[in-house]
Amino acid sequence: AASGKSTAARALAQRLGRTFLDTGAMYRAVTLVVLREGTAPADAEACTAVAERARLRFDAEGKIVVDDQPGEPEIRGAEVTRRVSEVSAHPGVRRALVREQQAIARAAVEAGGGVVAEGRDMTSVVFPDADVRVFLVASPAERARRRALEEGAPERAAAYEEDLKRRDAYDSGREDSPLVEVEGAVRVDTDRMTADEVVDRIAGLAEDAKGG
Ligand code: DC
Repeated sequence: AASGKSTAARALAQRLGRTFLDTGAMYRAVTLVVLREGTAPADAEACTAVAERARLRFDAEGKIVVDDQPGEPEIRGAEVTRRVSEVSAHPGVRRALVREQQAIARAAVEAGGGVVAEGRDMTSVVFPDADVRVFLVASPAERARRRALEEGAPERAAAYEEDLKRRDAYDSGREDSPLVEVEGAVRVDTDRMTADEVVDRIAGLAEDAKGG
């Protein structure tokens, strides 16, 4: 969480002329529908049904559309953010969304392009055969500092750091598709890098992969 992965992936997709696949937005969109319908986030079966039924797509700007309605900005709201970890831990929810992510990528490849996909299980579960796999890391302190700056409230950094550590522990400890670093993925530590440098570095890896 808050490693700068969305910013980096979005900018990279733009630079490479590829579709950006924001998988976190998909889990958030399902959570939004779950909450709207009054479904309990702890109810695995009901959440799975929502994930299987929800029609998710990305518009031309890469923004998620849920059942023909824009998902932004609600999917970034406090309530969804608070519940999304729980909803995304259900194996049935993950199965449904992984299938969709792979279908989106397949369609892009068949159209002669490809995707820049971002998410905790991209390198391990969803796209183990991707041309380039990157594991982006940053220290909790640095991630908290960036988030607080983004929000224009640098004094909140300490509180964010606690929150981030809690989410890390939860995402790494869950049973299904925990956050793991896999062999073959390139680790990029962004602590002392600017956003542009991160994009340069990954674009370089993509260039190497094409050449080799
Ligand atoms: O990246 P984000 O903050 O938008 O992700 C929101 C939540 O969705 C996060 O708590 C974990 C979950 N998620 C996931 O389990 N697997 C993914 N591929 C992407 C997100």
